[in-house]
Amino acid sequence: MFQAPYPPYDPTDTSGFSYDTVVKRWPIILTNIIDHVHRLLHNMTLEIQQVRDSDVSKAEELSKKITEGQEIISEISRLKYRMARDHDLENIPQDGDILVAEYNAELESLKQASRDTWFRAPWLYAECYLYRLIRTYFNQRTSWRGYDPFSTQKEEMFKNSGAAIYQIATTMHELESEKVKLQGDSDKLEVLFKEMIQMCLWGNATDLSLLTHLSPSDIEHLQTVGKEAQEARSDFILKDDQGAVWSYIKTLANQGKRLDFVLDNAGFELFTDFVFADFLVTYTPYFSQVVFHPKLFPWFVSDVTPTDFANTISSLLSPTFFPPNSTTTPDSVAHLQHMVTRWKNYIDKGIFTLATDISNGQKMTEFWNGPWPYWNMNELAPELGQWMSGSGLVIFKGDLNYRKLAGDVKWPVSTPFPTAIGPLAGSFPLLSLRTNKADVAVGIDEKVAENLDNKGEKWRTSGKYALVSFLPGRINQ
Ligand code: F6P
Ligand code: MG
Repeated sequence: MFQAPYPPYDPTDTSGFSYDTVVKRWPIILTNIIDHVHRLLHNMTLEIQQVRDSDVSKAEELSKKITEGQEIISEISRLKYRMARDHDLENIPQDGDILVAEYNAELESLKQASRDTWFRAPWLYAECYLYRLIRTYFNQRTSWRGYDPFSTQKEEMFKNSGAAIYQIATTMHELESEKVKLQGDSDKLEVLFKEMIQMCLWGNATDLSLLTHLSPSDIEHLQTVGKEAQEARSDFILKDDQGAVWSYIKTLANQGKRLDFVLDNAGFELFTDFVFADFLVTYTPYFSQVVFHPKLFPWFVSDVTPTDFANTISSLLSPTFFPPNSTTTPDSVAHLQHMVTRWKNYIDKGIFTLATDISNGQKMTEFWNGPWPYWNMNELAPELGQWMSGSGLVIFKGDLNYRKLAGDVKWPVSTPFPTAIGPLAGSFPLLSLRTNKADVAVGIDEKVAENLDNKGEKWRTSGKYALVSFLPGRINQ
């Protein structure tokens, strides 16, 4: 197994970002779950009063669910207490769900090294373990098994992005009339490619105000606005392999290649992933199918689960999902319907596929919910490694995927990207689109990093800066 020459980030450094997360972010996430379950229990109490006389078995069912919900709340409260006092991480109980043995085996080796507490464990392990542990609280209660405590939050956030979504749908609609022209004009296609890749990249930003404003009506205009907008944003992309990835993609024409998307967040970000995938399949000759890789259980609050994936399509097709806003017009509503109906057709025909729907896909997908860096994918998840080696391009979305690619260790910033991803380099063509929300960052000019540090910019963690990192399948190919 690959070992990096640098130690992992962990919260023992009280000035570091991971310390802040353990002390502030995790307790907030846990408190939000408690509040959410509380609200549900309150509603159930009211419901019992209504059905008590008319439907006794329903009332009993609700009352059992309330008792179990209270148990969940007290387990989470206990966890908050233990976390704040740096207690040890306890074994994940057997809850009949995935990766129990794997998490506990890693925990055992941390114990041997006396690093099995909330502040001493590597941050990456502790954070993944936290979401697996939360899963057990629900799984162990019959009436809550498999419940996603973040689903309401994910849906509410998605509802807030209606304006940008309608705007993008209209832009995509305008591209349709230019489709034939575009396919013969590689320069225009390149400009558009950069628009699309950046939309997909900034779809991962915490601060959605950084989101690209895709251009209005004609392609000429799009080129100018696109270029200007790209230039304005280019200062924020600290490693920029957009040109290299486009040069590589252009070698794939008419070969029926597959694109793999290792997804990050549900809602707006997933929408931008669909748009980018749709662009590559519908408007270019380079890819003929796309496989989307979700998470099997709720993960880092907002990541896409198979349920989110399905709900995204039905929400986008529902004319009432997004609250009306000043930019919604009957035309933009129709454009969105039209585009998402195409996606639905792609799903029906297997042009777009969720990884869990392919044979052996469930097993392959488990890896993403594990605690490991991706360095040893080929040893730890051989079926997945095999699958990826047949891909035309694998896109890793978001911050956590980047942390796992680079192992979440303290690489010097100028470390070449292929060095940081260890033995995975060269296994398959790989593109990481990441806005920076955690410390690990490589492939950056030292002087650029130093300048930002001197200006007091929190460029590693604010979500305002980004990295576009590409590696072809065989290095030097
Ligand atoms: O802000 C901290 C954090 O929770 C990191 O731990 C994690 O890497 C990131 O946010 C999640 O971001 P993303 O959804 O882009 O992977
Ligand atoms: Mg995420």
